[in-house]
Amino acid sequence: MSFSINEKARSLVLFGGNGDLSYRKLLPALFNLERKDLLADNLTILGCSRSDISNEVFREEALEGLRENATAHPDEVPEITEKFLNRLSFLTVDANHPEHFQDLKKTLGDSIANGCCIYYLATPPGLFVPICQLLNDVGLVNSSSRLVIEKPIGYNLESSIEINDAVAAIFKEKNIYRIDHYMGKSAVQNLLALRFANVMFEPLWNHNFIDHVQITVSESVGVGNRKAFYDNVGALRDMVQNHLLQLLSFIAMEPPTHLTPEALQLEKIKVFRSLRPIEGKRTKYNTVRGQYSGGEVDGKRLAAYKDEGESPAESNTESFVALKVDIDNWRWSGVPFYLRTGKRLSTRYAEIDIQFKGIHHSIFKLPTKANRLIIRLQPKDTIKLVIMNQEPSLSGALNLVSDPLNLSFHDQYDPGDIPKGYERLLNDCIVGDSTLFMSRYEVEEAWRWIDAILAGWEEFDIPVEYYPAGSMGPDAADQLLAKDGRKWFNNQYDNEK
Ligand code: BG6
Repeated sequence: MSFSINEKARSLVLFGGNGDLSYRKLLPALFNLERKDLLADNLTILGCSRSDISNEVFREEALEGLRENATAHPDEVPEITEKFLNRLSFLTVDANHPEHFQDLKKTLGDSIANGCCIYYLATPPGLFVPICQLLNDVGLVNSSSRLVIEKPIGYNLESSIEINDAVAAIFKEKNIYRIDHYMGKSAVQNLLALRFANVMFEPLWNHNFIDHVQITVSESVGVGNRKAFYDNVGALRDMVQNHLLQLLSFIAMEPPTHLTPEALQLEKIKVFRSLRPIEGKRTKYNTVRGQYSGGEVDGKRLAAYKDEGESPAESNTESFVALKVDIDNWRWSGVPFYLRTGKRLSTRYAEIDIQFKGIHHSIFKLPTKANRLIIRLQPKDTIKLVIMNQEPSLSGALNLVSDPLNLSFHDQYDPGDIPKGYERLLNDCIVGDSTLFMSRYEVEEAWRWIDAILAGWEEFDIPVEYYPAGSMGPDAADQLLAKDGRKWFNNQYDNEK
């Protein structure tokens, strides 16, 4: 990939610095960058939140997070760990206390004038605007300051426009990094290489040769202690509006003219604008909402969604969603994309299946299976191309089998060298490359499409269908495909081979 390398950041200010995302993902990702010697010596990392904790406590808690989540155990690389922890400090900054932003200004001191500063808001979206305004009020934003905001950007189209308008009044669009950590996964970037660095896929990549596409992001975890947050959000907003639609756009987009943020974002927006709206009655036929009931996995009892969290209660929030999506453009006319994601499913895996059409004419008396391209995003990045093959035999009898051509990144490369999503994206942000980040227009187009589904669910009072924890979702999700004479692949290839 060719990148325009801008000015390297000098300070990283992490709002929500002692939160779950920071300890579980962001600091471990930064630590991995440290191990790879990608952090400039003068980079400082300042955790901020309304908590009143000392630098020492912040470092201790961060170290705990590294032990649990970093690729290399920090105790095995003591010098690097010490160097990393020395970069960290903490400051109490509460958006309800504007005076705290003066403290922040004092703490950052000259680093603002002398170098680029990144403000990373790992906070609920309701805090994005107040924090940006307070930073601006005290003069902490200049033309080189970068802002990173986490999905969800808003709660619907209206609130995302409000956020985008407000931050645009303070930061330049090229300095706003809207992060979707799925874009940082190597396997997702590899979709671009697969499609646009090879000659053999592109001619087949359309309705003439592709029967349908499945995108599954299956999680085995439940909502647990995130229930209070999740119950107001649900799977459609939490996963489909961002991660699944981004994956869909990488599969469905036209070849971009260049590998620049503008060119990629333009092609993604065109895909979002071609999504046939699922609204009104279509929500009844093209969507499935699910929620897990209790279940048992490996002899362990798992709680129902309604019983999770500190205040168990009946809820109509979906922890699972399946959709049949049509793309109304020349390339994809008549090729359904089936999307599905859920919590407390049987296994954690994310996969894109491109199911090709069958051969036009067979010279064999035996049946043949249509080709399938399986792009496994996690847990182990793999690309398999399922082809028909003749099994060796002495008798000359024809025995056709379908076998995979198999490219496993974990066998091909050292797994420690495969960067995690946040690692790649944080590094991009530090060096000023926004190619893998979302523009406001993408986010807004995605919300426009999602809002129509949400409105249909409300209008028709679409209930959740229950599925046992540890299953692959409600029966209705199977019926969604069965109506079209198709089936979910359900991790099939992994189980078979
Ligand atoms: C987050 C969602 O964006 O992605 C979570 O808010 C979800 O609900 C997570 O668990 C999944 O990420 P990954 O990388 O583990 O697939």
